[in-house]
Amino acid sequence: MDNSEAFDNSERSGQTDRQRTQSGGWVCARDLVKSFRNGGVSIDVLKGVQLDLAIGESVAIVGASGIGKSTLLHILGTLDRPDSGTLLFKGEDVFQYDDVTLAQFRNQTIGFVFQFHHLLPEFSALENAMMPALISGLNKPEAAAAAEEILVRVGLQDRLHHRVGKLSGGEQQRVALARALVLKPAILLADEPTGNLDNSNSNQVHRLIMELNQELSMTLVVVTHNMELASYMSRCVTISAGQLQQQVK
Ligand SMILES: Nc1ncnc2c1ncn2[C@@H]1O[C@H](COP(=O)(O)OP(=O)(O)OP(=O)(O)O)[C@@H](O)[C@H]1O
Ligand SMILES: [Mg+2]
Repeated sequence: MDNSEAFDNSERSGQTDRQRTQSGGWVCARDLVKSFRNGGVSIDVLKGVQLDLAIGESVAIVGASGIGKSTLLHILGTLDRPDSGTLLFKGEDVFQYDDVTLAQFRNQTIGFVFQFHHLLPEFSALENAMMPALISGLNKPEAAAAAEEILVRVGLQDRLHHRVGKLSGGEQQRVALARALVLKPAILLADEPTGNLDNSNSNQVHRLIMELNQELSMTLVVVTHNMELASYMSRCVTISAGQLQQQVK
């Protein structure tokens, strides 16, 4: 099946505010439960998480270290499966997909910026950013053109062919952002995108993320300890005791 069709840009940009509110369940997480076993001890991290995301909205997830923010974001990004619970995208339970279909869906729909950026240091900024485009089936020139466009957009036009291992922390995080956005995903999930940056670099990356949220009409979920970044979002939710508490502004 071609999941990309169900999440195309025209639908996103064509929504009115009223429709957005009504379609609160565009992404719907229900009763997500996740435990880990560590040395014979079980840690119950998520104990029935509910979350609805509307098209184009921005949500901050905050909470103490070790509480389960990355765990939740990985499940929302379909990088990990919950022990139980469902994740519906436009009514489709994506964890019912087999691994190949799920990987295709993820590639077409979701951009992910990791807590630790997971770039390939020996490869150039361009090569790193074009990776998802190559995986999606674009040929090399098409993938390079898409990667160059987004790298220019994040201000790295003079760093396209630099090895990522030689770039500064802020530049690396902008490459990670470009890689996440190269296919213009419907959803961007970012895990502490500026956790390791100084104030000035953080502010630049924050501004960029918010501008791209508007430009690409994409839904944005950001895990952060940075209350300034959280304050830019339309909504902030806190994880505590394995569940989400909503704070509507
Ligand atoms: N793969 C795993 N195996 C075992 N335990 C895990 C695994 N992943 C996470 N955990 C545990 O689950 C808990 C939640 O981890 P998680 O990374 O989601 O926290 P977090 O809220 O993102 O923390 P931080 O703010 O420090 O990044 C922690 O106690 C962690 O040790
Ligand atoms: Mg984390």
